[in-house]
Amino acid sequence: MSNTYQYMKQRASKCAEKIRNQQAVHVVSHIDADGLTSAGIICRALERANIEYSVQFVKQLDEMIITKIADQNPELVIFTDLGSGMLETIENCGINAIVSDHHHPKGDTEFHLNPHLFGANGSSELSGSGTTYILASQMGDNTDLADLAIVGAVGDLQHVKKGKLTGLNREILAEGVKINTLSCARDITLFGKQTRPVFKLLQFASDPYIPGLTGNEDGCIEFLAGMDLPLGGDERWRRWIDLEREEKQKIVSALFQHSLRAGVEPYKIERLVGEVYTLLNEREGTEMRDASEYSTLLNATARYDHAEVGLAVCMGDREQAYESARRLLSEHRQNLVQGLLFVKENGVIQLNNLQYFDAGSSIRETIVGIIAGMSTSIVDNRNLPIIAFADTDDGVKVSARATQDLIRKGINLSRALSQTCEEIGGSGGGHDIAAGATIPSILKEEFITRLDEIIGAQISSKRGS
Ligand code: C5P
Ligand code: C5P
Ligand code: C5P
Ligand code: ZN
Repeated sequence: MSNTYQYMKQRASKCAEKIRNQQAVHVVSHIDADGLTSAGIICRALERANIEYSVQFVKQLDEMIITKIADQNPELVIFTDLGSGMLETIENCGINAIVSDHHHPKGDTEFHLNPHLFGANGSSELSGSGTTYILASQMGDNTDLADLAIVGAVGDLQHVKKGKLTGLNREILAEGVKINTLSCARDITLFGKQTRPVFKLLQFASDPYIPGLTGNEDGCIEFLAGMDLPLGGDERWRRWIDLEREEKQKIVSALFQHSLRAGVEPYKIERLVGEVYTLLNEREGTEMRDASEYSTLLNATARYDHAEVGLAVCMGDREQAYESARRLLSEHRQNLVQGLLFVKENGVIQLNNLQYFDAGSSIRETIVGIIAGMSTSIVDNRNLPIIAFADTDDGVKVSARATQDLIRKGINLSRALSQTCEEIGGSGGGHDIAAGATIPSILKEEFITRLDEIIGAQISSKRGS
């Protein structure tokens, strides 16, 4: 076990002791896959420790929400997958709190668990659910929850940077592999291996975008028909998991050749294959069996105001909640396709140091960040971060996404958004590679102009160093 893991466990053990002394706990978590799995982990641990709990999901923490929570006079609040950016407000409101998060922290407190405090990178090496898994590990034997921790990490795309999970995530993965609840293997990275007919995998490929196949159902069917494999055709299509090893290899190498001929850059083509994670306790052919499909299933609930459905799935409901989640998933999938189409059709506006699009009310604010991330594979210029705007009921949501290359050049989107908000208005934060903010509508133009300058300054100061 690494030193970082040990130090985190020590801090977690103090937090766990505090939890054990309570009768009831209020859990506040984030409305995405990582937030749901974090809540799932802590709630299962509380249940096992016979501590009563209530749960609340929020888009993000702001002063108003924190004040409302404080007004309820909770005995103890556990914030998961959020809170590290709001420690001062939480303390000022007099909330007895534990914060288990992986976002860029502002400050520190005694009962604050966050990988950044221990020299680990919270945007790639440990998720909110991983952090909360470490907390749960000090509350009792909760090793069987490692699978949820991995789903959260994959939901936050922490495996993308190196094509596999690294750092503390990998240590947690190893614990799951050891007790046979998780396995990992190199395989095709396209989405839907458990549940989709093979041609759908190609049709919905977004990273990389495969010209001629992505978004083109007929093209995908034709491409596969040309391969002389018994994949289904007119009859029932087989899924990826139904294929033999040789059949899979044949398709992957055909995809490599096709992409190369279509002019896709080799480094993008390489992303077609990577490490994938399987939840061995889940039934084959269900979304929950595959970490990536599981996380998308959860996003499909939480990002549409149905976090309670996703949480129920994390808590083990494989009947009613699972059925509801699947219905939400098919809507979510359509929205993602529509959103990507919006960006393709309307294009992006380039400034000196960023590119942006304004979705207005065409894309839901809760998924505009996912679309911004997916857009990196369709925009022409990969050397600029993507910023997206979407209207909300009381302002504008900003979502920002960068790439590893851009981070090496000095860009840190979390810092850039925080600084722009401080100077101009709004509140924001997140990670170096993915960040967000909420701002008043009238500040939109001023905001993007200043953000462009701030990102420019980040690049020049790195160049100068
Ligand atoms: O609030 P939270 O930490 O869950 O959000 C993380 C966000 O960062 C996710 O939307 C995830 O998709 C995004 N991300 C990304 N690329 C990465 C790592 C994370 O777009 N390499
Ligand atoms: O599982 P889901 O409802 O998302 O499936 C979408 C489509 O894929 C359905 O039309 C289903 O019949 C089809 N399918 C298939 N072969 C499979 C699994 C699903 O043709 N093995
Ligand atoms: O919403 P989106 O997926 O773009 O969020 C990206 C990251 O920015 C997430 O980690 C989220 O928690 C963070 N964020 C934030 N403050 C906001 C909006 C998003 O810290 N107002
Ligand atoms: Zn997270």
